[in-house]
Amino acid sequence: MSDLKFKLNTGAEIPAVGLGTWQSKPGEVQAAVSYALQNGYKLVDGAYCYGNEGEVGQGLKEAFAAGVKREGVFVVTKVWATYNTRVAEGLEKSLQSLGLEYVDLLLIHWPVLLNPKGNDDKFPTLPDGSRDIIRDWNHVEAWKQMEQVFASGKAKAIGVCNYSKKYLEELLPHAKVVPAVNQIENHPSLPQQEIVDLCNEKGIHVMAYSPLGSTGGPMMSAAPVVKLAEKKGVSPSTILLSYHVARGSTVLPKSVTPARIKANLEIVKLDADDMKVLTDYSDDLTNKGELKRYVYPPFGINFGFPDKQ
Ligand SMILES: NC(=O)c1ccc[n+]([C@@H]2O[C@H](COP(=O)([O-])OP(=O)(O)OC[C@H]3O[C@@H](n4cnc5c(N)ncnc54)[C@H](OP(=O)(O)O)[C@@H]3O)[C@@H](O)[C@H]2O)c1
Repeated sequence: MSDLKFKLNTGAEIPAVGLGTWQSKPGEVQAAVSYALQNGYKLVDGAYCYGNEGEVGQGLKEAFAAGVKREGVFVVTKVWATYNTRVAEGLEKSLQSLGLEYVDLLLIHWPVLLNPKGNDDKFPTLPDGSRDIIRDWNHVEAWKQMEQVFASGKAKAIGVCNYSKKYLEELLPHAKVVPAVNQIENHPSLPQQEIVDLCNEKGIHVMAYSPLGSTGGPMMSAAPVVKLAEKKGVSPSTILLSYHVARGSTVLPKSVTPARIKANLEIVKLDADDMKVLTDYSDDLTNKGELKRYVYPPFGINFGFPDKQ
């Protein structure tokens, strides 16, 4: 089922499974990207902030040389928070590193502005060591720039990441172009159902990040996931990835390990009873106030997520 696809509000197709590249180290990520694309993957998710786009670009180049077609690969990158007032410049840097003329999807990485003139290109800090954030700035301004970049054709679709329901509701009345995607952390310990519902209603496709619980994949040992995996005769990772496809989302497992990269393309059909096991688990964590968010950079900003109030 690795060739499953969804449709974006641009009319373009987006694969249901893509390779994540965050924390994929130099010396590993070129091989991971090249291997994935030559073994059935059609989507690569990257970002300027990951600091490895040059090597991701080498992986793309290697795959293209081996016969993979550019138009058959959906490439995603993200504008980092120091570039939210310089979106076109941010995209240009990524395109150069990737060795591409366009990306299939450009996302705002986080709706916050880190000082573009600060003491670091990616993580500027104040003298006390805290992040150098420009607080007098509205995230809608970044979206206006995203719309201009979209018109240039260098990003075939534009979207956001880490947008709560609150932030989406602030953005949408001002958006001439409705975001094609909202990429959010998502797994049964953080279902973010209110965001998924709003995205479905507005035609915004959800991309699920950290589906295995990020570094080391802690979600793979959650008891209901393990139990369901035993019942279905598949691995816990397959359950966690299939959960998103059943919800109509694209899922982004990261791996630099060839056997895992290959295994992560396996998606099984989860029926209503299977999904109930996982949603019951989510509901239980919600009721107990024990939802788990694995990725939350210390911006010190209230992004409007209910579990972070
Ligand atoms: N927009 C955003 O703000 C944002 C934030 C976070 C992530 N993302 C995107 O989402 C992608 C995925 O999230 P993530 O990197 O946080 O974590 P993840 O995909 O949930 O988990 C990655 C970890 O699981 C391991 N793993 C992968 N497949 C496995 C398998 N089949 N069996 C056992 N272990 C396995 C990986 O190890 P090995 O690599 O060593 O195999 C790695 O340690 C990122 O790479 C990035 O592209 C976006």
